[in-house]
Amino acid sequence: MSHAPDSRASFTIPDLQRRAAAGEKLVMITAYDAVTARIAEAAGADILLVGDSVGNVCLGFENTLPVSMAMMNHHLEAVARTRPGCLLLVDMPYLSYHMGVEEALRNAGGFIQRGAQGVKLEGGANRVPVVRALVDAEIPVMGHLGLTPQSIHRMGGHRVQGRTGRDAVALVQDALRLQDAGCFSILLEGVPAELAERVTHEVKVPTIGIGAGPHCSGQVLVFHDIVGLLPEKPPKFVRTYMNAFEQIRAALEAWSQDVRAGRFPGPQESYILPEDARDMLQAWQPSTNPGGDPQQPGQ
Ligand code: KIV
Repeated sequence: MSHAPDSRASFTIPDLQRRAAAGEKLVMITAYDAVTARIAEAAGADILLVGDSVGNVCLGFENTLPVSMAMMNHHLEAVARTRPGCLLLVDMPYLSYHMGVEEALRNAGGFIQRGAQGVKLEGGANRVPVVRALVDAEIPVMGHLGLTPQSIHRMGGHRVQGRTGRDAVALVQDALRLQDAGCFSILLEGVPAELAERVTHEVKVPTIGIGAGPHCSGQVLVFHDIVGLLPEKPPKFVRTYMNAFEQIRAALEAWSQDVRAGRFPGPQESYILPEDARDMLQAWQPSTNPGGDPQQPGQ
């Protein structure tokens, strides 16, 4: 394991709680590598999340289920090496906290040693023992309720959750349980706006929404969705601010055309020999001096 870089920690969990209590909206963006982390930080994000969505966004998987601890550690380390001034959180991937508290502690502790300032995990009342154990071990935990992508098979796909009265009440109860277990914040994904509003009203910790309407304490989106870097049509809850896929494709196509037409590289992209070296190279003949010391011109 590499040494954890000291986080610059210019934005901490107490800062986040103060900001939310003052009514300021929190901004969280996913980051999966040093480039996305640097851009998101430069854009003023409060929180960077190394999300397990790295699986479907960057690694070509259909969903988040195949994402392993080794993959998450690899991406977390890349983001942590940029020493972001944002709060750095990381997702606990599927099966990293489902097989007992001890394993969850080892996995989450490893994230903290690699530079994360907290972890996020999916689930409600069933996760209370794990959340308690992590919090006891000084590992801040963000809960994740509603559309929890690691439960896609139980949910029958990526579907909006909490649409019946019973489910909505159960979700509020889960949020209260997570808060009581020590979560410093709760992420709400894919739930009706009124339900997210009610949760945000009932709990004292900040809520972060994605597809959960405007009433949460903050919002998160996937980096690649905000900039339109993926070819697929994004879900309804995304707002895309540029078509990076098309702009980058056009730039790469223009470069390919320059290469094929012999326009690249030009003089400005080439290294030029000094005059004396050029003269010597021109004067040298393989037939008169094959493999020997090069002769100075005129010798
Ligand atoms: O992994 C992820 O991208 C998430 C989203 C809810 C932000 O957890």
